[in-house]
This record gives sequence, C-alpha cells and structure tokens, in this order.
Amino acid sequence: MTTQQVRVEDRSQLSRGEARIVRRRSRALLWSLLRPVRWRIAATVSLIVVSQVCAVVGPLAIAFAVDTGLPDALAGDALPAVVGVLAYAGAAVGEAVLVSVFIRMTAGIAQSVLLDLRRRMFRHTQRLGLEFHESYTSGKIISRQTNDLEALQNLVNAGLSDLVSGLVYMAFVAIAIVVLDPISGLVLALSLVPVVLLFLWFRARSSVLYRESSTRSAQVLVQFVETMTGIRAVQAFRREARNQRVYERLAGAYRDTNLTMMFVFGILYVTTTLLGNLAVGSLVLVNGFRVLSGTVGVGVLMASLLYARQFYDPINTLGEVYNSFQAAAASLEKISGVLSEEPSVDEPTQPVRIRDVRGDLHFERVTFGYDPEHIVLPEFSLHIPGGQTVALVGTTGAGKTTIAKLLARFYDPTGGSVQLDGIDLRLLATEDLRRALVMVTQDAYLFSGSVADNIALGKPGASREEIQRAAQAIGADEFIRALPDGYDTDVSKRGGRLSAGQRQLVSFARAFLADPAVLILDEATSSLDIPSERAVQDALETLLADRTAIIIAHRLSTVAIADRVLVMEHGRLVEDGTPAELIASSGTFSSLHRSWQESLV
Ligand SMILES: Nc1ncnc2c1ncn2[C@@H]1O[C@H](COP(=O)(O)OP(=O)(O)OP(=O)(O)O)[C@@H](O)[C@H]1O
Ligand SMILES: [Mg+2]
Repeated sequence: MTTQQVRVEDRSQLSRGEARIVRRRSRALLWSLLRPVRWRIAATVSLIVVSQVCAVVGPLAIAFAVDTGLPDALAGDALPAVVGVLAYAGAAVGEAVLVSVFIRMTAGIAQSVLLDLRRRMFRHTQRLGLEFHESYTSGKIISRQTNDLEALQNLVNAGLSDLVSGLVYMAFVAIAIVVLDPISGLVLALSLVPVVLLFLWFRARSSVLYRESSTRSAQVLVQFVETMTGIRAVQAFRREARNQRVYERLAGAYRDTNLTMMFVFGILYVTTTLLGNLAVGSLVLVNGFRVLSGTVGVGVLMASLLYARQFYDPINTLGEVYNSFQAAAASLEKISGVLSEEPSVDEPTQPVRIRDVRGDLHFERVTFGYDPEHIVLPEFSLHIPGGQTVALVGTTGAGKTTIAKLLARFYDPTGGSVQLDGIDLRLLATEDLRRALVMVTQDAYLFSGSVADNIALGKPGASREEIQRAAQAIGADEFIRALPDGYDTDVSKRGGRLSAGQRQLVSFARAFLADPAVLILDEATSSLDIPSERAVQDALETLLADRTAIIIAHRLSTVAIADRVLVMEHGRLVEDGTPAELIASSGTFSSLHRSWQESLV
C-alpha cells in the first residue's frame, strides 16, 4: 500500500502523517472539482458581496432619513427625506433581486460539482481491479455513493450561501455601525464575547458527537447491507432474530447520538437568541439615554437596533452549517480515498498488439500472494502449448482460481511473468487480452436484459442468427425457446429468472460466441445436472474445440475430455500427464479417479 492509499474509515485511528496525507489529498480533490467552476464562483461571491452591501445600506438610509431628512423636511426641504426613503427602497429591492439570483447560481454550481464527482466515482470504481473490489465491501462502496455524496449535497443545501452571505453581512454591519456610531459598535462587540465562548463550546461538543454519529450511521448501513446481501444464508441459518437485535441496538445507539446532537443544537439556538435579545436591550438602554441627553439622533438608535437584530441571525446558521461542513469534509476525505486508489494492474504505456493468437500460455517462475505475508504460489512454472485442453484439479485452496485470475490479468504476479504467445501480459494491450482470453466462472453473472442480450455480450453487435447458432452449439437453444418470451425473455423479471445450470449454459453460449483463443472454465460445469452429463460433454467438446482450454473442475467426468491433467497442491504442481498416464500411476489423481469410479457403481 502506497502512502497515497490511506483508507479512511475512522479518522481517529490515523497517524498524524496519514492524517496530513488525507487532508492534502482531499484538498486536491476539492480544488480539482472547483477549478472548472471557479469563474462562476467568483461571479457568485461578487453578487453576494453586492447584495449584502444593499442589506447594510437599509438601516443607514433610515438613520439618514430620520436624523437629517425629517428635520430638513420640517424646515421646508423635502429632498434629503426623499433620497433617504428611495435609498432604503432601492436597497431592499436590490437585495431581494440579487439574493434570488445568487441562490440560483450557487445551486447550479453545486449541482454541476456533484454531477462531476458522481461521474468520476463511477468511472473510477468501475475501473479499479479485483484487488480493490475483493477487499472493499459493497456496503462501503454504497455508503460512498449515498451517505457521502449526500453529505456534500447537504452542506450546500444547509445554506453554504447563507453562511457566506451571513459572514459578509456581519463584517459589513461591523464596519457600518462603527462608521455610524462607534459606541453602539462597542456595545455590540461586548455582547459578542459570550457568543464566541458559546460557539467554542458548541464546536468542541459537536465534533465529538458528529464523529460518533457518522460512525454509528455507517454501522447501521453496513449491518443492513450485509444482512440483505446475505439474506439466503440469514434465512437458512435462522439468524433473523439475532440480526434484528444487533440492528436495533445499532439503530438505537444512532438515535441516542442524534438526540444528544439536537439537544446541543437547541442550547446553541436558544442561547444565541437570548444573547441577541440582551444585546438589543443594552442598545435600547445605552442609546435611549444618549437620545434623551441629545448626543445622538433617533435615527442612530433605530439603525443600531436594526443592525443588532440581524447581526445575530447568521450565528445560528453558522452552527448548522458547521456540522454539515464537518460531515462534508469527512465524506470528501473518504471519497478522495476511493479516487486515489490505483488500479492494481496498469495499462501498458506502449501496448503490444497481437492479431492471430495461438493461445500459447507460459508461467515463468511466477510467485504470487494476495498479500505479502501469504504466498499462494511459491514458484510456479508451466507451459501450455496452443490448442491443448488442460484439466486443472486439486484440493480446495490449492490455487487453481488464482492461476485463472493471473491468466486473465485480474492480478499481476509478484515475481516472474505470465505470457501469452511469449508476450508478458503486462505489455499486452488490454483490449487484445480480453479478446484472446475468456474466463467462465461458477457464478455465471447475467446482466438485466434479455437472454439474447446476455449471450451477445460475447460479441457486441452479433446478429440474432449468430446468437441462436451459439446457443444451439452448446445445447442451450431448447430451454431458451421454452422460456416465456424465448430469446427475448427478460432475465431480471419474475418468470425470466434462470436456474444456476441454465445461467451456466448461457455463459457457455456467450463464450462460444466470443470465440477466444484461450478459454478458462473455473468450476463452470458445477451446476449442470448429472443426467444431462452426455449433453454437457458434447457442449464442452464443441466449446473447447480449436482453442487452448483450461478446465478447473472437481467433477472427474469433465476431466476425461482433457489432453492433459495437472494436479495442484499448496500452489505447486504435483502431477502432470495425460489422463491415462496419471490413472496408471499411483499418485493423487489415480486414487481420486479410483474412488470416483467406485462411486459410480
Ligand atoms: N481475494 C483473495 N484475497 C486473499 N486471499 C485469497 C483471495 N482469493 C484466494 N485467496 C487465498 O489463496 C489461496 C488459493 O485460493 P484459490 O481461490 O486459488 O483456490 P482454489 O484452488 O481455486 O480453491 P477451490 O477449489 O476451493 O476453488 C487460498 O488459500 C485462499 O485463501
Ligand atoms: Mg477456485
């Protein structure tokens, strides 16, 4: 794992160096997201500033109209009063118009950033190799796509623009009030001291609660996803009651944290409102005395009260946005973690292209382990000449599937090299490798769509005739025709659902249509029924003709059609020969074969 690949699940478990990497990485991501929209952001911020100037001008215009305009009007000059009133009205209208424009603009920016991020996540996650997907659970990936993207969206919805405008407004009010009347400014500044203290308390308290809440929400989600994806096992082993208890405990803990968080919010809200009222009261008192003693005009009193009232509004928003902000920052860290995962197999920089593939396979002193501590293949050498049909057998966990994964280049070997027609797979163009080599596995996966679509995956753009010919060749035509809509039956709908054996036949047809030079069947016949064994043998023989084939199978009947049998144990080849040779010898295969023969009679 490189330093870039620090996975963030729980921040509190990161070392300081790792935390720094994570912060830098998520800042880089943020910047790359904001860069394309930076001019739109600049335009929006300018609008916000202008709109807040309008908001601040209002009370100043009132002070002017009352303290200068009214005395002048009484003296016969109505102009200053008219100017004051017009300025007030103009500022109010201007503010309303500008605010509505900038709200639309921020929403537009936020949505395009989120769309960008969603697309990147999908593209990247899909591109990441098996190594990532075998270790990063689907629960976590789902939570990246849902919770984490939502956290970012919430930050925007919870009023990022409100926050920015609120802060700009507070700054302008501070300036305006000092210009208008420094003593009112001083009173307001003093009333701010408890607010700052309160906010510090809130920040400390809510960080802890927030972390707790996000961990708990993730636990709830993971428990849910794991139960539902494993629902068959859950029901088969009667784990429902236990899972329900675990789920309820987690969900209950999540509720408790949320309630405490709401309570803390409540304290912030009530206390700032109270402090706001006290500030207004103090200003009424101080400025009231000053008006009575004639030091300031009534206009100043009114303006200072208007300012004080509005000065406190953004503080509550600040509390709300602060939480969304933390959630979004944590989510961005996790998302940036996924985005910085490197595919475990790299595209070659100068790919070698091959046209006519012979299907000659070579393992040259290959060593491999999924993680450095557990070596699966200690040193594996093997040559399979083009066109040979090889059966690979061996005990569970011997490393057979691992051999297949290395050939399909889902992983790269730690040492040595895997070659196709003498070319290291690491140098081969991925496109050519995918065309030359097809792997059919036990869990024949069908995509939603028709049966015909699923077969056509083997050869995009194949005609209906070609599809049917492939199905006929491997003996799947008959059952497909018997489906409700024949080849057009939707496999994701009720009634279109195929049995495991039928799915395997569809994936055979797919492989037949793809017509690769190398075909690997990993337990691909395990779900086919014994009575149709003959049909399966015929299908297999058609499927394997004229290509290099590796059949990994536990069932020895499928092994009979092989030219060569390889027996594996603990990552090593222990036997290698024709079926007849191995049966005649006294090795593992011969005893396996003997007990199989006995089981048949
Ligand atoms: N994704 C993985 N991460 C870590 N270890 C793995 C992974 N896949 C397999 N292994 C380990 O590698 C070893 C070989 O596994 P492999 O799947 O190749 O066995 P196999 O011969 O195909 O067995 P089976 O007959 O049961 O399919 C096993 O010890 C297994 O625990
Ligand atoms: Mg296997």
